[in-house]
Amino acid sequence: MLKRIRLLYFVYLLFFVSSYSNYKIAVVPKGSINQFWKSVKTGVYEAAEEYGANIIYRGPVIESKYELQIRIIEKFIRDKVDAIVLAPAHKDMLLPVIKKAHENGIKIVIIDSELSGNYHDAFIATDNYNAGRLAGEEFIKLHGKKKVGILKERKGNASTDQREQGFEDVLTENNIEIGVSVYGGTIFRNKLILFERILNDYPDIRGYFTSGELSTLALQRAIENLENKADYTVIGFDLNNDIEMGIKNNIINGVMIQQPKHLGYLGIKTALELLDGKEVQKEVLIDAEYFTD
Ligand code: BDR
Repeated sequence: MLKRIRLLYFVYLLFFVSSYSNYKIAVVPKGSINQFWKSVKTGVYEAAEEYGANIIYRGPVIESKYELQIRIIEKFIRDKVDAIVLAPAHKDMLLPVIKKAHENGIKIVIIDSELSGNYHDAFIATDNYNAGRLAGEEFIKLHGKKKVGILKERKGNASTDQREQGFEDVLTENNIEIGVSVYGGTIFRNKLILFERILNDYPDIRGYFTSGELSTLALQRAIENLENKADYTVIGFDLNNDIEMGIKNNIINGVMIQQPKHLGYLGIKTALELLDGKEVQKEVLIDAEYFTD
């Protein structure tokens, strides 16, 4: 009897896996150099391995390149892929090409950052607004009502826009002044130079919030590079080896951590369920957690 069940399960698995290997799933991340996107990619290929899906993974290196994402997706439409898993670098600029993909019968799963419109079949991300609020609440525990600086990522980048909004709302609700608020962009060197200048120009501000991995690391470096060492309250986003050292060395108090590997895995799993004609949850929001030493 046990042998029979084993054989049936093996046949089912063989069918299940082989039936998925006919699908072509295109994955378009927002960037590739940050640890966050490397973890997303690991999750994508873990799911591909488990389900036998055929993945084409192609995206920009730098996270502001939504024009490049558009060109990549246009090629995937011409190549007639079955599904696209996309982390949009801009919440509006990617809409026309996603509408076109939808009209070509391609299943669309958006991960990490919201896309406007309703041409996608599923959205899976961190609950970014509430993650920003949680960061604000943790920040006040550490910094009280003193003036704060917010070092932002890039306007139109929905994930970080929402975190920044959540953080700002908590400060406003607590009558805390925002002394400086700037967008740092997506090039590390430029961010570092800007943040070093801000620390120098605003000596009275000793508390900062950063909403993404690159900004968090750039601020950490700027504080480490200070000639006259000073203590800052810093809460950021995302974890990598350097940021973990920054927390251990008390440069940074803590970061909001997400589940990027799970995001990549769920993106593929959801695309396969859609291709299988299954009902999927339209929106899945995953809570971020505060991580400190
Ligand atoms: C960062 O960009 C965001 O879109 C991700 O959620 C992560 O916080 C990675 O560079």
